[in-house]
Amino acid sequence: MKSHIQSLLEQTLATLIQLEIVPSDIQARIQVDRTKDKSHGDFATNLAMMLTKAARKNPRGLAQLIIDNLPASSHIAKVEIAGPGFINFFIDENALANQLQDALEDEKLGVNLPESQTIVVDYSSPNLAKEMHVGHLRSTIIGDSVVRTLEFLGHNVIRQNHVGDWGTQFGMLLAYMEELQAKDGNKASLELSDLETFYRAAKVRFDESEEFATRARNLVVELQSGDEYCNKLWRKFNDISLSHCHEVYNKLGVSLTRDDVHGESAYNDDLAQVVSDLETQGLLTESAGAKVVFQEEFKNKDGEPLPIIIQKADGGYLYATTDLAAMRYRANVLTADRALYFVDLRQGLHFQQVFSLAKLAKFVPDSMSLEHLGFGTMNGEDGRPFKTRSGGVVKLADLLDEAIVRANELVRSKNPDMDDATVEKIAKVVGISSVKYADLSKNRTSDYIFSFDQMLSFEGNTAPYLLYAYTRVAGIFKRAEDIDLSGAKINLEHEKEKDLGNKLGQFNEILVRVSAKGQPHVLCGYLFELAGAFSSFYEACPVLNADSEAQKQSRLLLAKLTARTLKQGLALLGIETLEQM
Ligand code: ARG
Repeated sequence: MKSHIQSLLEQTLATLIQLEIVPSDIQARIQVDRTKDKSHGDFATNLAMMLTKAARKNPRGLAQLIIDNLPASSHIAKVEIAGPGFINFFIDENALANQLQDALEDEKLGVNLPESQTIVVDYSSPNLAKEMHVGHLRSTIIGDSVVRTLEFLGHNVIRQNHVGDWGTQFGMLLAYMEELQAKDGNKASLELSDLETFYRAAKVRFDESEEFATRARNLVVELQSGDEYCNKLWRKFNDISLSHCHEVYNKLGVSLTRDDVHGESAYNDDLAQVVSDLETQGLLTESAGAKVVFQEEFKNKDGEPLPIIIQKADGGYLYATTDLAAMRYRANVLTADRALYFVDLRQGLHFQQVFSLAKLAKFVPDSMSLEHLGFGTMNGEDGRPFKTRSGGVVKLADLLDEAIVRANELVRSKNPDMDDATVEKIAKVVGISSVKYADLSKNRTSDYIFSFDQMLSFEGNTAPYLLYAYTRVAGIFKRAEDIDLSGAKINLEHEKEKDLGNKLGQFNEILVRVSAKGQPHVLCGYLFELAGAFSSFYEACPVLNADSEAQKQSRLLLAKLTARTLKQGLALLGIETLEQM
């Protein structure tokens, strides 16, 4: 509620600036505090007093102007000016209690569904030439969580796994595959079970043998000209590589399927058209034999124009060319209102350039929103990019297995008498959700340090803490199974009941924020606070030993809504809940 009032006041301040009552360069910290004395309402702000000097108005007069411009809110029963110019807010507990009651009746927890949009979400998108590594973890789990949230809000979401399945490195891989198959077919399949090693071995052959390298280059040309034999080899390679990816998705509980794969190669047939369309519009320039586009707004550090290369001198197409074709497909065929790209922040310039070119060339309508929702780097505990001890890339599959092993030790240590099968089942959920939650709970754009110890801790904003909090709430129902709650009413009387009620009432605004900017960490922070509000409530307000039957039922309803909100919130993060831990 505090943040709700804060945001109302922020909007009011913006209006006052527009009305030129307050100068636009004002740096006001909007403070909202709980009142000590309930006769002054529930919350108060000294904003009017803070602004008097800058606005050259008396504080009570200014307080009145603030109140006059405050957006309407069903949560606020009354607003009053007090003393020298304080503004007091009285929360409407009945409106809130009714809202919560409605949420309980609704399978979507009372969330208002916005106007439905078609939203393309480009995420995971690994390169098939190599094994998926930790760098793809962030894209995969952040993207998946946003996809789930958007679908929950009723949008038509189209997942696009824009895999890197094309390019010169495939010549080298196919040449090596061919060589192994000629020797022994089984050996080729065996070696492909570890793509990393396969890639390295192919690279060794490429570097040591001129003959091999020539064969590799020829294969690329044949592949691109549609040669059946090459295409068969290539499909086989990609199929194996994709099955590795899907093993990881399954382990992670990510909703991507094979049908969502729409990789770079899918745009082959449109690439020549992209070039000629840019040419017709007079946007292409020749530069050292290559075809490039210069856009005014992109310059390098020395102020020189920075081109996008569309076609190399040898006729080859690039990453940018494919992305232009992909945007056109997403606009025309998929009819997207928004296209979201969950890709490393380091590709920021690439996306700025191709987005602006796609609009300039009218490949996508002006109304379509193109959003690069970048993320920072996942670092090791030494603060440097995450590597194995020997400095190699960490495979995602290995990392997840280690998380499960560690979770197993943790669960076992807490439950010495539990049978192995149950420990294993719990450990799988705890291990995987810890890795996911640790990532999701960080601000998407910051770098973060990957630490098993931290993510598996029961303290702080972690998966184990939340999963455990959920089992506690769920446990209350186990003990109250025979209580009939039909006809029960929520009543917010105690301070802690009101706090919990206020938190529960915010679920909707939180989901809107997650979907607007692709920020699951907002939801994580919210669930953590909700679990905290429940704990304080549970400590202060006896449930099964309440003063009256009505009070007991009201408190049980609050617990029920908390359990459902936690479970739903975690599900939107792609995290399964447990009934016991
Ligand atoms: N395959 C690329 C990589 O691993 C990511 C592709 C992202 N999506 C896109 N449309 N460019 O870096």
